[in-house]
Amino acid sequence: MFSLFKQELAIDLGTANTLIIQDGKVVVDEPSIVAIDRRTGQTIAVGKRAMMMHEKTHENVKTVRPLKDGVIADFQAAESMIKGFINMLGTRRRFFTHLKMVVCIPSGITEVEKRAVFESADHVDSKETYLIHEPMAAALGIGLDVEEPVGHMVIDIGGGTTEIAVIALSGIVCDQSIRIAGDELTSDIINYMKREHNLLIGERTAEQIKIHVGSALPKLDNPPEDFPVNGRDMMTGIPKQTVVSYSEIAHALDKSIAKIEDAILKALEQTPPELASDIYRTGLYLTGGGALLRGLDKRIGAKTKLPVHVAEDPLRAVVRGTGIALKNTERFTFLIDRRSV
Ligand SMILES: Nc1ncnc2c1ncn2[C@@H]1O[C@H](COP(=O)(O)OP(=O)(O)O)[C@@H](O)[C@H]1O
Ligand SMILES: [Mg+2]
Repeated sequence: MFSLFKQELAIDLGTANTLIIQDGKVVVDEPSIVAIDRRTGQTIAVGKRAMMMHEKTHENVKTVRPLKDGVIADFQAAESMIKGFINMLGTRRRFFTHLKMVVCIPSGITEVEKRAVFESADHVDSKETYLIHEPMAAALGIGLDVEEPVGHMVIDIGGGTTEIAVIALSGIVCDQSIRIAGDELTSDIINYMKREHNLLIGERTAEQIKIHVGSALPKLDNPPEDFPVNGRDMMTGIPKQTVVSYSEIAHALDKSIAKIEDAILKALEQTPPELASDIYRTGLYLTGGGALLRGLDKRIGAKTKLPVHVAEDPLRAVVRGTGIALKNTERFTFLIDRRSV
């Protein structure tokens, strides 16, 4: 009777996207954003529906991205977002449902924030909650054997942060986190359009440019077609359209990508020699939405002279790994439970 009402969830709480796996399937894949009524403080929408309101709100509605730069910037909003997503699952929650969750958290999170995540889990009635650090979940999701005595370097380029970690023997040996990732690339594009085309665009348009013609290299073997961009002309104030090419965007993103490269080089320098020799063989693994940027693998490969692998379906690697952790809570010693914070 008891097990009939068992519900198990793996949650990747990302700065840009939140994903949930239930019974081995991705059941939620939504942007991490909530829309709140300013007068009542009530949440009106979460995920895609809230994203549609983003940058189009009037004074009574605000949209909030509860996670910023790899940390939880707004606890209350984060909690109502998690609640909203769990409600989307549509399963009838019963009094005696045994809810078990593994939540993937950014590795820069503090002890206080960890406790807050446990508390949020309590508020959705979770009976058994574990946390997992993002680089570990990413490594599991890529399919690496994290328990063996072999080092692997995983680079997760998300919305707020790029996390570079070396993993071996069920632990994170070294970990670098920089606040240059997808959001920064998006704002590079906004600034570029302003500077070079006198065109004002919003975040969502810049994100579309990044996805359609984003590139880490000014010359690609399979170039995407030029992309039409609508915005407001800064001179006339009137809406207008401009066409941009991938080489232009490569130029716009160059400085930020160089910073990511520098962080990777620094992480390699700090890797203990025996693990460095493993990484020389195994190469670098890219995950997170940023791994989809055209030419990025090639550029990082040229810079480090190491083999670079892009994870299959990189936007979902972390939640896949969190799902694997959910199935192995007895075995994986690196999971954080309530007693350890
Ligand atoms: N095809 C793409 N090219 C470049 N960036 C992308 C692409 N698809 C998604 N992204 C970026 O990936 C980021 C989201 O990645 P994700 O791994 O979900 O982040 P997080 O884990 O922080 O939520 C966003 O900044 C998004 O713009
Ligand atoms: Mg992530």
